[in-house]
Amino acid sequence: MEEALASNVIGTPSMRQDSHGPIGVFDSGIGGLTVLKALMARLPHERTLYLGDTARVPYGTKSSEVVTRYSLKNAEFLLERGIKLLVVACNTASAAALPALSATLPVPVLGVIEPGARAALKRTRGGGVGVIGTPGTIRSGAYQRALEAGQPHVSVKAKACPLFVPLAEEGWTTGDVPLLVAREYLAGFARDGVDTLVLGCTHYPLLKGVIAEVVGPGVSLVDSAEATAEAVAELLGARGLLAPESSTAPEHAYFVTDVPERFVEVGARFLGRPIPSAEQVDLRF
Ligand code: DGL
Repeated sequence: MEEALASNVIGTPSMRQDSHGPIGVFDSGIGGLTVLKALMARLPHERTLYLGDTARVPYGTKSSEVVTRYSLKNAEFLLERGIKLLVVACNTASAAALPALSATLPVPVLGVIEPGARAALKRTRGGGVGVIGTPGTIRSGAYQRALEAGQPHVSVKAKACPLFVPLAEEGWTTGDVPLLVAREYLAGFARDGVDTLVLGCTHYPLLKGVIAEVVGPGVSLVDSAEATAEAVAELLGARGLLAPESSTAPEHAYFVTDVPERFVEVGARFLGRPIPSAEQVDLRF
């Protein structure tokens, strides 16, 4: 398996990283734009390349083997374009593929799970931490492990909330429908002594309002996207890879594996700014 993975990916461990290179970000589709948004806000001088695997979305209901295979292909595409660091914006891909990606790529790789878990551990007062995500993320136990490792006082309650993804993509983020769904998924959290809830899916920050309404003011919401942007800033700083400050705005390029129209339209809502264009690419599986 290791050999197959290594031969799948272009690059060698001695590849030089250059502070001028872009940050590569991939996701199963549109959702990772919430992570890109946080990155752009935290690191306004960085160039970015974003790949949304819109031909194969969703990852959240697929097996970890398949998600790992897709993730390695996505990483290979970005690596060929000279990225200095890879951000796995997709929670499901972070949960399934981070060890394979870190072992194979010649650039630093950051997922969203460790930063999100670390932020939650800093935030919790009583040790009751909830995590919500796709079925794949929750089934993997990745957040649960990251939260519980060496933390005997922490107890984790995890729940898959698959309907939140289509609701966010349809723009149904306020009103009765998302509120009913959120009640169904989240009613038990406050009752079970959870004081901190990790939004462990790229789409969930869009539903922050209804989630907060259901869990109540006593539960603090942790957005993995912001925690990840902070972790990226720290890592680039520590390795001397931060882009030099410049008076001209950095370039941001977008690639998708299906036709770009829906990505450009819906993605603007996730990114909080217009996406001028996206290029369709064929990853040749
Ligand atoms: N990007 C995925 C995640 O954060 C959600 C969408 C999907 O299932 O592919 O887990």
